[in-house]
Amino acid sequence: HRAIGVAVLGLGNVGSEVVRIIREQAEELEARVGAPLELRGVAVRRIGSDRGIPEELQTTDAESLVGRDDVDIVVEVIGGIELPRKLILSSLNSGKSVVTANKALLADHTGELAEAAEANSVDLYFEAAVAGAIPVIRPLTQSLAGDRVNKVAGIVNGTTNFILSAMDETGADYEETLAEAGRLGYAEADPTADVEGYDAAAKAAILASIAFHTRVTAADVYREGISTITSADLASAKALDCTIKLLSICERIVTPKGKERISARVYPALVPLSHPLASVNGAFNAVVVEAENAGRLMFYGQGAGGAPTASAVMGDLVMAARNKVHGGRGPRESKYAKLKVAPMGDI
Ligand code: HSE
Repeated sequence: HRAIGVAVLGLGNVGSEVVRIIREQAEELEARVGAPLELRGVAVRRIGSDRGIPEELQTTDAESLVGRDDVDIVVEVIGGIELPRKLILSSLNSGKSVVTANKALLADHTGELAEAAEANSVDLYFEAAVAGAIPVIRPLTQSLAGDRVNKVAGIVNGTTNFILSAMDETGADYEETLAEAGRLGYAEADPTADVEGYDAAAKAAILASIAFHTRVTAADVYREGISTITSADLASAKALDCTIKLLSICERIVTPKGKERISARVYPALVPLSHPLASVNGAFNAVVVEAENAGRLMFYGQGAGGAPTASAVMGDLVMAARNKVHGGRGPRESKYAKLKVAPMGDI
């Protein structure tokens, strides 16, 4: 089979790891895909000689890169909303499959992007958008496709979990821990998205959409962050044999009026020390899924950081490439059961 051309948009913490893996593991990846993966170019903000990537592979013109005929798959790891949205739509509309880690974009535009993928018979994969290296999107969209998911709850923001764990264990300073999360590549460029719960709410919207085969956007998710939590709060929690975790909870509910709805919410919660989520510390994430027939499942691992997130991107890239080589398509959006989200007051 001819080579599969790959364009990578963005060369931050995740993008540089993706490019490194594509180049270092070329042989193994070729064996798994059934064709070589060839990096056609990397879209960057500024061309730099210090990145270990030949300058001729770098471009500041992302639009021309995704428009190239020899690009089959576009990996979007730029972040932001409008620019990646435009680039992803033009990629899908020109028959390219897309792998993205962009939770903020997906939280608001999954419907539009999924429709473009469907219309063009290409794939849209986004395992890396929620909980980094941890497989949660694939279990929900594929492994559990024949079950009925009732609840998804977890710790899906590494930065805030890192901060809360440090405050709990050592009484560490909030600002200092936040800066450390930035240095380690966990925090968003603007950490407000982390500490105010916007990042966790975007991920909750994505999880609720795929778990319940409906469309939930970030604005539908009730949200509180951790910026008002103090060491004294953590000490009080400890006195109750609890700790405090920023939880994202999505579940099917029946309202007092008897209507079936979705509840999606993010807030710092008291978690009993005996609960498995209480011992998820540092930048680790964990997601608990409850399904009618499967019962309770728990997914745990590294939810942030360059290499772990790149691992999920690479898994998607291999899937999309295999589909290009052998035919076949990734998971598609369900066409039924448009369950609505209940406002907090109705719960
Ligand atoms: N800022 C995010 C986090 C990165 O801390 O979890 C992973 O999405």
